[in-house]
This record gives sequence, C-alpha cells and structure tokens, in this order.
Amino acid sequence: MGRGHPRYARYYARVSPALERSLAPHRRALLAGLSGRVVEVGAGNGLNFPHYPPAVTEVLAVEPEPLLRSLAEASAARAAVSIKVVDGVAEDLPAGDASFDAAVTCLVLCTVTDQAGALAELRRVLRPGGELRFLEHVRAESAGRRRVQRVLDATVFPLLVGGCHCGRDTAAAIEAAGFTIGRVKRLGTADTGIPFPSAPQLLGAATSGSAQ
Ligand SMILES: C[S@@+](CC[C@H](N)C(=O)[O-])C[C@H]1O[C@@H](n2cnc3c(N)ncnc32)[C@H](O)[C@@H]1O
Repeated sequence: MGRGHPRYARYYARVSPALERSLAPHRRALLAGLSGRVVEVGAGNGLNFPHYPPAVTEVLAVEPEPLLRSLAEASAARAAVSIKVVDGVAEDLPAGDASFDAAVTCLVLCTVTDQAGALAELRRVLRPGGELRFLEHVRAESAGRRRVQRVLDATVFPLLVGGCHCGRDTAAAIEAAGFTIGRVKRLGTADTGIPFPSAPQLLGAATSGSAQ
C-alpha cells in the first residue's frame, strides 16, 4: 500500500494477524533454509519475522508505510534473528550492489508501483547466485477469471486494496528481470484462506545470475 494508503494500512494491521492460522505455514516454507544476509521488501507489520531461521545473520526490512513500519519495528524487537527495519521502497533500495545472500517478497509485488523496477533493484542488491524467495498472489489460470481480474485492476481493486493489483503475471516479470525460477508451488484459497480474486498464489524461489 505504500505511503499513500493510511486507511488500508490501518485495516491491514487489524485484519492480517487473523489470517496467520492459514498463512503462517506458507511463511515458514517461504523462509526455510535461508542463511546469511537477507533483504525483505514491503515487510508490512513484520508477520514474516518470527519465521526466519537461525542461520539468517541479518535482515534488512524495507517498509514505506509509517504505521506498518512501526509495527514491524515492534515485531523485529521480539524476533530471534537480528532485523533492522528501514523506510524505503522496493524500486530504490537503500543497499549496495551484491550485498545480500537472499531477498524476500511476500504479497508485495502485487502492490509496488513499478514491478520491473523493483525486480531490477532486487537483482542489483543480490549477490550472483543469490536467491529471491517469493509468496505472491498472481494472475489466474482460467481466461474467465483473468478477465474479472483485469476489470477489477482497471477499476476498484487498487483503490479498495491499498494499491494492490490482483491480475499481475508476477512469474513472467520475475523471469523477465533475469531470475531463473527454480521451484514454484501454486496455492489457492483452500491453502491460504485468501479468497478470489487474490487466491491464486505462487510460493517459490528464483536464482539471480550475474547482473549485466
Ligand atoms: C499486503 S501488504 C504485505 C505485507 C507483508 N509483506 C506481509 O506479508 O504481511 C503489502 C506491503 O507492501 C508495501 N509496499 C507498497 N508499495 C511498496 C513499494 N513500492 N516498495 C516496498 N513496499 C511497498 C505496503 O506498504 C505493505 O506493507
């Protein structure tokens, strides 16, 4: 939702913890096996933080929205790993080239203003061979549902849902940015508790080759 959606940020802060019964296992799977330095963009209220494994030495958590960032700071203080929460956007990360072993996006690439720009930044800050872990809701598989998503994205969805788009082809964007998707699992409403049109979700990992 970024800085321009304070009302939705308040709603997300109130409602998102209730979804954790369904989402927490997917957050754990998203982060399992990570180690070293990690950058998480659009960290929200920090719901991923309890799930970082102990081999992670440091997390830089970037969050532009002030209320969510303050909640993320509180979550970071309770976390078992070292997490620094900073203001910023995915399209302009406050980090040096090749400075992270892994990057995490979770329900964020649907909302960033410039998806290609955000992915290029993630690639820049990842070391060659570094991993992008993603849990993102995406474009539906059936033509009918895609049509509904397109109409919603062109009308009310971004206004009602904090700048979010329900029909982005995020897997294609990840590959177009120069990542290679190694593994990916498709999830639906029954897995995450999040209803259509945001139901089709991808949980996966992609590798960054050397930046051109
Ligand atoms: C649906 S919330 C997800 C929050 C969190 N990742 C989670 O899994 O609960 C989307 C988040 O993306 C953030 N966001 C929106 N635009 C952004 C941008 N351009 N760069 C970074 N984060 C952004 C929002 O402020 C919000 O925290």
